[in-house]
This record gives sequence, C-alpha cells and structure tokens, in this order.
Amino acid sequence: MARRLLVLPGDGIGPEVTEAALAVLEAVSQRLHFEYTVEEALIGGAAIDASGDPYPAETRARVEQHQAVLLGAVGGPKWDRGERRPETGLLELRQHMGVYANLRPFEVWPGLEHLSPLKTSGFRGLIVRELTGGIYFGTPRGRRQVEGEWEGFDTMRYRQSEIRRLARVGFEWARREGVGVISIDKANVLETSRVWRETVSELGEREYPDVPLAHRYVDAAAMELVLHPERYQVAITENLFGDILSDLTGGLVGSLGLLASLSVSGEVGSRGLYEPVHGSAPDIAGKGIANPVGAILSVAWLMGWSWQDREGQQLINQAVAETIRAGELTPDLGGSLNTEAFTRRVIQRIG
Ligand code: NAD
Ligand code: IPM
Ligand code: MN
Repeated sequence: MARRLLVLPGDGIGPEVTEAALAVLEAVSQRLHFEYTVEEALIGGAAIDASGDPYPAETRARVEQHQAVLLGAVGGPKWDRGERRPETGLLELRQHMGVYANLRPFEVWPGLEHLSPLKTSGFRGLIVRELTGGIYFGTPRGRRQVEGEWEGFDTMRYRQSEIRRLARVGFEWARREGVGVISIDKANVLETSRVWRETVSELGEREYPDVPLAHRYVDAAAMELVLHPERYQVAITENLFGDILSDLTGGLVGSLGLLASLSVSGEVGSRGLYEPVHGSAPDIAGKGIANPVGAILSVAWLMGWSWQDREGQQLINQAVAETIRAGELTPDLGGSLNTEAFTRRVIQRIG
C-alpha cells in the first residue's frame, strides 16, 4: 500500500506543530525503512488570504485523492470579523471527508502528575465525539431582525442513524478494551438528547449487552470528569458537548497541547483526519514555543489507523513518553525547550 499524506497546516501555531510532526514522521520512515509522499494544501485563514475561500476547490480536490489528512489548526483574530470564517473551512473538510466520529484520547503522562489536578498518572480515557452533525451543521441557522433587534438562531438535530453509527464506534472500542461506555447528553432538557439516550440504550441492549453502559447529563459529567476521570474510559457524546469536554481533558492532563485526535468513518485502514485538539493559539503563535505533542501523536494515530503500522505508531508514542518522562518539556508544561528543540529530543529517541 502506498503511503500518502495530505497536510493542511492552517493558521497560527498550526504550521509550527505540523512541521514538527512531519519531522518526526521522516525520522520514523528512516528508522523503519518505508517510503511515503506528502502534499500540502491551504485551509482556513491562509486559504481565505489566498483565494477568499476557507476550503477552496483546489484543497477539496486534493482531499479526495487522499486517505490520510493531517491538519494543524485554523482561525485567528485577523479573520474574526470577516464575512467568511476560517473555522467554516474545517467544518466543510470534516463533512466532506465524512468523518463522523472524532476520537479524542487523554492520559496523564508519567512525569506530568504535578501538572494534573489529580496529582497521579496511570489513567487514560477517550471521548468519542460526533463530528458531522448536531448544532454545528443544523439548519435553519442565521440571524434576523425581531422587534427592532438582532436575534441569532441555530438548530440542533440528530437522526437515529447518525447516533447509532457514532455509538457503534464507542461500543466497539470499549468491547476491544474490555471497558464500559458512558453516554453523555442533556436528556432532561433537550429533545435531541432524548432521542440520543433511547437510541444508545436500544443499541446497547441489542448489539452490545456485554458492554456496561451508563448515562450522564452533561453538566454532571463535567464535574465527574474532573473528580473521577478514570470512569470515562469511553465517553460518547454529541458534537458540541464533545468539543467542550475534550478541552476539559486538556486541563486534566496538564496542557491542551498534549491532546491528539483522529476522526474516522469506518474500520481501521479507512480514511482519517488527524488533528491536535487545540486551536491556532494566537497568544503564542510565531514564537516557536508551541507544544507539538498533540500533532506528533496525531501522526502516530495516522500511522496506526490509516497506514496500519502499529510499530511506527508505538515508536512515536514511546519516544514522546520518554522525552516527557525525562522532563524535557515545552513552556506550557513548565519547561524551557522550544518546539524545535523538543522535537529534536523526540527524534533522537526514535534513533
Ligand atoms: P486555543 O486552543 O488555540 O488556545 C487555548 C489556550 O491554550 C491558549 O492559551 C494557547 O496558547 C494554549 N495552547 C493551545 N495549544 C497549545 C500548544 N500546542 N502549546 C502550548 N499552548 C497551547 O483556543 P482559542 O484561543 O480559544 O482559539 C484560538 C483560535 O483557534 C480561534 O480562532 C479558534 O476558533 C481556533 N480553534 C481552532 C481549532 C482547530 O483548528 N481544530 C481548535 C480550537 C480552536
Ligand atoms: C475543535 C475546534 C473546532 C470545533 C472549531 C475550530 C470549529 O474547537 O476542533 O475542537 O469546534 O470543532
Ligand atoms: Mn474545540
């Protein structure tokens, strides 16, 4: 199988962290002796500047030719007041690729216990976030004049088929790992959540009776995630709740910069979009100090999922873990290494 990769660096620290991740990939390819190709295209603010469109036709065409896409981050104050927003480009990309399941793993790495409110390492969890539906995409949406003032409105919708396919990803993962699933919703208030809860329960009873299933309201889940993250080994939830709760896990593990994600639409070996959970971090962009771990670990997931190369995936994970355990850290983790120096330490360990 030819290994091909499309990189969409985007804005702010996006290009800084994808450059680091590509350097790590290059080191792994030399160590394990494989060939691969990398193409690059524009998205987000960078694409707006070049063409006026955050997800231009040229980028769309390249995406169609690739199974694996690595994204940096999009957005920034420069484009916040424009007619078209960089973030729209990312939403279009996700929908175009059909990657409805966004897997966002978190763990407290040995060596970073002191940065976690939990003061202990050794737990890991996963948020399985629905990515191509819900209030992010529902119509009608817009703004209108009501009694002389502006009113904004959005629509949240979920069909059972969307809920089932997302829940299956979570149930399958949990079954493989021998753990339970917690489904997060707001069924005490929202109709979409009631349909969500019923559908997940039915699916669980019918197809996954061996996987323990529990339900939580999202507000209570937010508190429990902080106090007992070990209970959230697989959490499934809708798009907006998953966005919010996954940033919360960044706080749990010590930095948002540590979190990677993979967005998929099917089985191992199928197409995937790989991106760190963090954004373009305008407050540190251009300083060369961004933590590249989220992007580097996203490439590890890419290797394991799209390229089915477990050895390469583990090599990267191990090199990152050792670097962190040695206390060689970027400033967000209390260290003094810049992005390039940290990446060099990881590459040295890949050999
Ligand atoms: P952010 O994730 O960019 O930053 C939040 C905080 O975390 C900042 O203090 C930042 O410096 C820090 N941080 C984030 N990543 C880091 C890293 N790798 N290393 C060290 N520190 C890091 O969120 P924000 O400031 O709310 O949003 C900034 C822009 O990014 C907005 O335009 C937003 O829409 C966009 N955004 C994009 C994505 C994406 O492309 N996937 C995700 C989130 C936000
Ligand atoms: C994320 C980001 C995006 C989201 C934005 C930039 C559209 O916050 O990937 O978590 O809300 O999905
Ligand atoms: Mn987010």
